[in-house]
Amino acid sequence: MDFKNILLKEEGNIAIVTINRESKLNALNTETILELTCLFDSLYSKDIRCCILTGAGNKAFVAGADISEMANMNVIEAKEFANRGHRLMNIIENAPFPVIAAVNGYALGGGSEIALACDFIYASNNAKFGLPEVGLGVFPGFGGTQRLTKRVGPAKAKELILSGEMIDACTALDLGIVNKVVELDKLMDETLNIAKKIASKAPYAVKLAKELIELATNVDLKRGLKVEADYFSLCFATEDQKEGMKAFLEKRKAEFKGN
Ligand code: COA
Repeated sequence: MDFKNILLKEEGNIAIVTINRESKLNALNTETILELTCLFDSLYSKDIRCCILTGAGNKAFVAGADISEMANMNVIEAKEFANRGHRLMNIIENAPFPVIAAVNGYALGGGSEIALACDFIYASNNAKFGLPEVGLGVFPGFGGTQRLTKRVGPAKAKELILSGEMIDACTALDLGIVNKVVELDKLMDETLNIAKKIASKAPYAVKLAKELIELATNVDLKRGLKVEADYFSLCFATEDQKEGMKAFLEKRKAEFKGN
């Protein structure tokens, strides 16, 4: 598949997706949103065990949705734009493998929103997060009002979204938006390290655990525990469960095949 605005590199079972519109600070125009949606859709059916999402260059992860494209939208076009953004964020969030955002600079507006749709975020020390949309006469429309609130709670989400204030990587770390902050030149290595660890584990167990953690943010404990027991037992239908436990007992490294 050829894409104009994104790059895909596969290292074993790890997919590295780079948003590649560096001259526009990787801003998400419709074409890029559709390409990313199409790419993630295609990754669903491949043996991908972890994915890293990053931006081209050293300055920006994604500087937001494309303002030049949004400026002249009518109501119907704006709704379609938001819906396309939601479809992309949902396809990332619901991917059957973990997706890690490697945030290498500005993650503003849609940039923060796409990072929040990933399973977790590693950031470089020059990263900046923010949802500046109220300064443009709108508000975050790619899931930011919902996902940021779930991540940091309503009071902090209101402070950030209603002021449009930008925060640095360490503040984002303190708020639990980011899992780890590293120097820019170490970001991809650090992200690859954790991606490799994840990719070496039993893929089906990883997939189900991801789903359950997501579920925990949406349902009560009783329901969550019921589904946990169901999913736990499902692992026992896999070869990887047999291999994982057998390898432990035989004091060797498990070879997971994803079945
Ligand atoms: N949409 C469209 N184009 C964007 C963009 C966006 N969200 N963010 C940056 N760009 C473009 C700029 O228009 C500029 O293009 P040009 O060279 O053709 O004029 C190019 O990217 C470089 O950006 P520039 O503003 O010159 O860089 P800077 O270092 O001075 O400032 C930012 C960097 C990120 C602070 C600034 O670009 C910015 O505020 N961007 C918008 C952030 C935003 O509001 N995002 C939410 C959108 S809903």
